[in-house]
Amino acid sequence: MKGIILAGGKATRLYPITKSISKQLLPIYDKPMIYYPLSVLMLAGIKDILVISTPEALGSFKALLGDGKDFGVKISYAIQPKPGGIGQAFVIGEEFIAGQKVCLILGDNLFYGDRLSAALQKASRKKEGATIFGYPVNNPKEYGVIGLDSKNKVISIEEKPKKPKSKWAVTGLYFYDKNIVKIAKSVKPSKRGEVEITDINKVYLRQKKLDVQFLGRGCAWLDTGTYESLIEASIFIKTIQERQGLKIGCIEEVAYRMGFISKKQLEKLAQGFKTEYGLYLKKVANGDG
Ligand code: TTP
Repeated sequence: MKGIILAGGKATRLYPITKSISKQLLPIYDKPMIYYPLSVLMLAGIKDILVISTPEALGSFKALLGDGKDFGVKISYAIQPKPGGIGQAFVIGEEFIAGQKVCLILGDNLFYGDRLSAALQKASRKKEGATIFGYPVNNPKEYGVIGLDSKNKVISIEEKPKKPKSKWAVTGLYFYDKNIVKIAKSVKPSKRGEVEITDINKVYLRQKKLDVQFLGRGCAWLDTGTYESLIEASIFIKTIQERQGLKIGCIEEVAYRMGFISKKQLEKLAQGFKTEYGLYLKKVANGDG
């Protein structure tokens, strides 16, 4: 299975911060934002990953993550010239996907929770169809919203509805079967000129091939699109990390725990940091992290 991180966009809601820097490179407490979605793909067991970003920002992502070898994964890069919609990721990534199954995560989405790894691995084992993840939110009008029947089966998905049918929002994490490129290409761009991920999900829904996994109260799904949500995410990460003495979204640690790199490799990575981050990696390597 392949993985894509979509990390382009204009991030106009964060201006002037993001006038000259990609949102997904901004810090969420002690790490660049993209570490969090990258760690989610790695927790799903995905080792072949494409990072898509703007022509201006792509070089910075390469400088940060390189070819992925340090984390036991393979990272490739592609450009999205303009924000043409989330669904465009599959058209840009066609060659990379090469007819396989693929997981897409948005570069500004943070997930954290108990059941997450199990949910990811379940979705990645599925052979056919699509899986999306629902999360209850206070302000469903601002999201893609899942409509359910009395048996909790999905019957509709609506983008930013005026009258939401539920409080279940579609999160920025999606798993698709090998038909995804064909479907993404068949979907007409919307009025705002974007290949809408909601339209792609509706195709799977019509074919009765769309599963939803519900992430409940025990999980956190955080937005990082505004000043408020950005600082809230940093505070959340800091609070949990300090309480537990465990890091969230630490890609070096995830690589080690998933068996992608050896203890020796982790120790070497730890030496590259003069910060508490390096000390933490050392502790993980010694088995007391
Ligand atoms: P958005 O939050 O919809 O867009 P944005 O990040 O450009 O922000 P703003 O509304 O402030 O202008 O995007 C969600 C995520 O998806 C974010 O990580 C950027 C990414 N994205 C792309 O990379 N390309 C796209 O064409 C779109 C629509 C989103």
